[in-house]
Amino acid sequence: MKLLILNGPNLNMLGIREPEIYGNRTYNDLCKLIEDHAQEIGVEAEIRQSNHEGVLVDWIQEARGKFDGIVLNPAAYTHTSVALLDAVLAAGVPTVEVHISDPDQREPFRRVSYLRRACVACVKGKGFAGYPEAIDELKLRIERINS
Ligand code: DQA
Repeated sequence: MKLLILNGPNLNMLGIREPEIYGNRTYNDLCKLIEDHAQEIGVEAEIRQSNHEGVLVDWIQEARGKFDGIVLNPAAYTHTSVALLDAVLAAGVPTVEVHISDPDQREPFRRVSYLRRACVACVKGKGFAGYPEAIDELKLRIERINS
C-alpha cells in the first residue's frame, strides 16, 4: 500500500513556529515519526511539504493511479482553498485530513474546513500523534474498499 503524506504552508517551520500550539519538535522529527510508523505497519509513505497551493493541487492530482491514499494537512489552505477541495474531489483518492492542533477550538476563521467534505475522516488536536492515527485510519478504509 502506497500513501502520500502532504503538508501545506508553514509546516516546514515546526519547532520554530508557535511552539505553544505546535510543540517544540521539528518538521524532520515529524517526518521521522511518520516513516517509523509506516515501516512498522508495512505501508510505503512518501512525505512532501509545500508552501504553494498550486504545487499541492499538482501533487493531489498526481496521486491518482499512483497512491492508494492521501494524508493531507492543508494547514492554512484548509480554511481558504476551493482549489484543494476540487483537487481531492477530482483525484478520487481516499484522503484523510489531519491537523496537529484542533482548529475548531481556535479562532473562528479556523472553524471552516473547505476540505472536510471531500475527506473520508479528520484527525485533529492530537499533536504529531495525529499522523500515525490518520495513517491507520486510512489503511483500514483502503483495506475495506479493496476487500
Ligand atoms: C494546522 C491548523 C491550521 O489552522 C493552521 O493554519 C496550520 C496548521 C494544524 O496542523 O494544526 O498551519 O493545519
